[in-house]
Amino acid sequence: MENLEAIERGLLARISSASTLEALEQIRVAALGRSGEVTGLLKGLGSLPPEERKTRGAAVNRLKEQIEAALGGAKSRLERAALDARLKDERIDVTLPVKAETDGRIHPISQTIDELVAIFGEMGFAVAEGPHVEDDFYNFTALNIPPEHPARQEQDTFYLLGPEGRAVEERKVLRTHTSPVQIRTMQAQKPPIRIIVPGRTFRSDHDATHSPMFHQVEGLVIDRQVHMGHLKGCLIEFCRAFFDIDDLPVRFRPSYFPFTEPSAEVDIGCSREGGGLKIGAGADWLEILGSGMVHPKVLANCGLDPAEYQGFAFGMGIERIAMLKYGIPDLRTFYESDLRWLRHYGFLPLDQPSLVAGSR
Ligand code: PHE
Repeated sequence: MENLEAIERGLLARISSASTLEALEQIRVAALGRSGEVTGLLKGLGSLPPEERKTRGAAVNRLKEQIEAALGGAKSRLERAALDARLKDERIDVTLPVKAETDGRIHPISQTIDELVAIFGEMGFAVAEGPHVEDDFYNFTALNIPPEHPARQEQDTFYLLGPEGRAVEERKVLRTHTSPVQIRTMQAQKPPIRIIVPGRTFRSDHDATHSPMFHQVEGLVIDRQVHMGHLKGCLIEFCRAFFDIDDLPVRFRPSYFPFTEPSAEVDIGCSREGGGLKIGAGADWLEILGSGMVHPKVLANCGLDPAEYQGFAFGMGIERIAMLKYGIPDLRTFYESDLRWLRHYGFLPLDQPSLVAGSR
């Protein structure tokens, strides 16, 4: 009869010297597999006389348990070693400089939108969106621009034809500004509201400073007891954060929009001495956005009681502020998909916009 101790010693020695999980698995199969050594011993018990079977059976089972425990221990030892080796192998040196030479660039429009979202996000604004093909109602009427209002002509609207190319009563338009999202938001959610709406807008106009498709960002704040001081504080803070100039002069100039009252255009200080434009210093002003207190009629159009809720809104052209911040001279180049332009004015993917700046 086989010497159980010798078998045990032999197996334990092989288990403790196994250096890979695969080798260990082979030992397990050779010992405990269907035709394994220990399995054979267990099978052999059946042919023994009852008395012997009892003592021998207990011994073989103990052997089996010993081997199972040793296999388990060796398995976790080898797994730990394999993990350690992987951790060592796959370690990334995070102090290595980033490989800057990538072909991809972030378009200045995307970069500027990221910066706007970061700055207004810090102030508690959420991002909202709306459709490009808009109802006449949302783009005009609800914003206190009735059908006969001259603002409709001024905006060079693209009108969509109805079914079978017919002009229809309730016509659709390509939205001429992001302001219709003010209405959609006020209809959809209760105040307090604090949103910005970056997105595409369309006007039938094309020259060095106008493109039929361009981008705006709208802002809307609605709450109880919002006043002009909030509008001013918010927009001054935005201008200084966006242009990264702490003492940037900001001026509010009375203006007119049908959907705000009072309305103000916002100018920032600049100098044009020597032909070059310099933002921040000097005696000149540069208009960068339109704003105002939301008109009571607009609030009422959205089912809000103007005696209870007030707010302010603003809108600006994204290309325009991107051109000013990054010194891009011609609007048309934004859409030409010229890779040389994109390599020059674009941003590297790892440049994170922050409150203090874009990338350069
Ligand atoms: N919608 C206006 C425009 O396109 C900008 C604006 C938005 C003005 C919100 C005031 C308030 O010119």
